[in-house]
Amino acid sequence: MSPTHDRRIRPRRLRSTPAMRRLVTEVRLHPGDLVLPLFVKEGLTEPVAIASMPGVLQHTRASLREAVREAADAGLAGVMLFGVPLVRDAVGSGATDPDGILNVAIADAVEAAGGRLVVMADLCLDEFTDHGHCGVLTPGPGGEPVVDNDATLERYVDMALAQARAGAHLLGLSGMMDDQTAAVRDALDDAGFHDVAVLAYAAKYASVFYGPFRDAVESTLQGDRKSYQMDPANRREAGREVALDVAQGADVVMVKPALPYLDVLADVAATSPVPVAAYQVSGEYAMIEAAAANGWIDRRRAIEESVLAIRRAGADLVLTYWAAELAGWLTAPA
Ligand code: PBG
Repeated sequence: MSPTHDRRIRPRRLRSTPAMRRLVTEVRLHPGDLVLPLFVKEGLTEPVAIASMPGVLQHTRASLREAVREAADAGLAGVMLFGVPLVRDAVGSGATDPDGILNVAIADAVEAAGGRLVVMADLCLDEFTDHGHCGVLTPGPGGEPVVDNDATLERYVDMALAQARAGAHLLGLSGMMDDQTAAVRDALDDAGFHDVAVLAYAAKYASVFYGPFRDAVESTLQGDRKSYQMDPANRREAGREVALDVAQGADVVMVKPALPYLDVLADVAATSPVPVAAYQVSGEYAMIEAAAANGWIDRRRAIEESVLAIRRAGADLVLTYWAAELAGWLTAPA
């Protein structure tokens, strides 16, 4: 009898009961694999809802501390902080000011976390520049402004030191400048911050799915980031970016966005010598929330399945705006 007609082999046997399915499940979700991104805005007295990200807030410093405590209570791995300043300028001065919103929020979060989770900070200039780019601008060949890679590295170094002094445990380098991991690692080491870790957004694509995030941080960007973030068409290039970041001392590498890039994530997970994170970004969040709000999809199952798929593709860590809510479901008594 040919194998396809062999009734001794019945894959359905292992799917026959909940207990049997649980026995053979390959991937499980756990709060300790989830990181919650949080926004904090300068000068707020009350948290503000973000229209394109229902359920996500711009925090005040006080409500941020509370959110960090709740994240720790939920058993999350960490929080990733983004600051929204009141004033922006060409070089993003607020990013390196010790009294800048992100730096004071890092110190607040570290205190609120009490060592129970890892406090991560976004290391990028886009929230702090008046033009909204991730670096400083210089006139290009035709006089048009272009992002100056090496001048930007000097700003990233100062930003890294400000964040390390504020107590950040892990710096999320999201700017996609060449050599940024090496520049920041060297500066941290020279200043004695040997234990401050670097998460490199190694394979970060120029994606439309960051749209709602740009509302969340009130981005002023005109144009796009295609001259520094990766082309969504390129899979092989991700391996090159990851190899560079690992060689420069990245402690963790990330693929971003997550669900539309599971092929890239699987490639990176198969070859990376360091832990791999994936960022389920604002547009991924908004799509599911919008469909659920219309009654077109089962919200909870869509959240669980999407994060599970990201873990199955190989992510050790998942950054997701649902981290706290999902952790609550995972730990609730059955
Ligand atoms: C850069 C940064 C962005 C996101 C995280 N870090 C925006 C961008 O590159 O344009 C997007 C995250 C999301 O969409 O949820 N500071």
